[in-house]
Amino acid sequence: MTRREIIKKIMLLSSSMFALMACEDKNIRAKKEKNSNSINLKKIKLTNDIYNFNQKLLIPDIEKYELKNNIKHFNFKIQKASKNFIGKDVPTYGVNADYLGTTLRVKTKDLVSLNVENNLDILTTCHWHGWHVEGQNDGSMHQSIAPSKSWNPSFEIKNHAGTYFYHSHAHGKTAEQVYKGISGMIIVDDDISENLDIPNEYGVDDIPLIVQDKFFTQEGDMVYTKSNRTTMMGHMGNTYLVNGVYQPKIEASTNLLRFRILNASNARTIFLGFSDKREFYQIATDGGFMEKSLALNSLKIAPAERIEIMVDISNAKNELFLNAYENYGFVPIMKIDTSNAKKSNHKVPSFLTKIDWINPKEATTTRDINLAMRHGSLSINNKKFLGSRIDEEVKLNSTEIWNLKTTSGPMDHPFHIHGTSFQVLSRDGNPPLDTERGWKDVVLIRPKEVVKVIMRFNYKADKNNPYMYHCHILEHEDGGMMGQFSVS
Ligand code: C2O
Ligand code: CU
Ligand code: CU
Repeated sequence: MTRREIIKKIMLLSSSMFALMACEDKNIRAKKEKNSNSINLKKIKLTNDIYNFNQKLLIPDIEKYELKNNIKHFNFKIQKASKNFIGKDVPTYGVNADYLGTTLRVKTKDLVSLNVENNLDILTTCHWHGWHVEGQNDGSMHQSIAPSKSWNPSFEIKNHAGTYFYHSHAHGKTAEQVYKGISGMIIVDDDISENLDIPNEYGVDDIPLIVQDKFFTQEGDMVYTKSNRTTMMGHMGNTYLVNGVYQPKIEASTNLLRFRILNASNARTIFLGFSDKREFYQIATDGGFMEKSLALNSLKIAPAERIEIMVDISNAKNELFLNAYENYGFVPIMKIDTSNAKKSNHKVPSFLTKIDWINPKEATTTRDINLAMRHGSLSINNKKFLGSRIDEEVKLNSTEIWNLKTTSGPMDHPFHIHGTSFQVLSRDGNPPLDTERGWKDVVLIRPKEVVKVIMRFNYKADKNNPYMYHCHILEHEDGGMMGQFSVS
């Protein structure tokens, strides 16, 4: 098939999709609609008719380091590249790769030195999303890297075992730079994760899944459009990629798989489940393991959230797919070939780890944070982001409760904060969702709902290197739905 034929085929809103829609499970749809916002997502048009899930899922390499004086030295090159996603080479960015980045894998208490080289001709940054590092090491707009310059933070890894990620946080340009590929997975191990009897062989039974929606034109170009509409609604794609691959397949080597799912989309909250509605288990939230594994049939993952799951893929009657559920139906996004899966010697553990739940009495300060979108302007507490203004001053080693809400507009906003992880205390006075019982750094705020979170601020961020808090719909962040705080 020529490129033109492939692209033409992609653009045909194929009849097979409607066949798939017809067999959609009513329960999942009903459940999804209950949790969903009222805005129709841009429809995913592409279907399973061009590559037929023949491409292997790409597993990002684990980045190598050099050990010098007990410090792990990593070297990251942010670079221009090109990649063929759906039949045509298109310009991209990557980090030691053509698109997205290599996986940064470290262990709690490691000493690391991260040399980040900017080989682009524009300013960029590298933010360690979810990591507890001091403000000067955080990689926000205050640590930007000029073209052909490098940035070299070093620190000790303080986080629990879990799945994190790094991405550009360039002032006003985060959305476009992340969209083009400046984003990669981080895995932290610790003694607990290494001693749990769960799948832990990277790329074999412990598989990273970076899920994103992208917009491809009829010509096969991957485009990023900045408009009033995308600023308000966020940039929505019309197709899904997993680890930068369109319609990938994996060959399951064992029947018990662990997936580390990262929603690295600019704006889309994604609903996932397996094609035969099989049960799976959530084992981790953004910042590490939950106490107990949680049985689910579908999950909802907002931009920048990470969810680890385990699934037993044995006894699949038909071909098994990971599906994304849309308002109008579903789209298979990855195929799982189960035919050569051997019996795993792991089990789904019921108990994972003991979480240190923060006592609300420990909190000494309460703040109200209101994310708003009105008449084309985006704000937090009625202020549009300003890099020279400190919005909140937090005391070092204090515990605070923040009441997060959104008062204007029908959209959900995934709230994120730097420099710490939080626990959800309540949603509108009700207990948190089962899926958010653990350490988190992103939480979805729904209209007319107050989400109460509690967190400790144990790392310094002076006024020249403040932390950010913002909506992780990247167009909202760039548009001003962001604030800054110091910790001292
Ligand atoms: Cu994932 Cu402020 O960022
Ligand atoms: Cu962050
Ligand atoms: Cu938002």
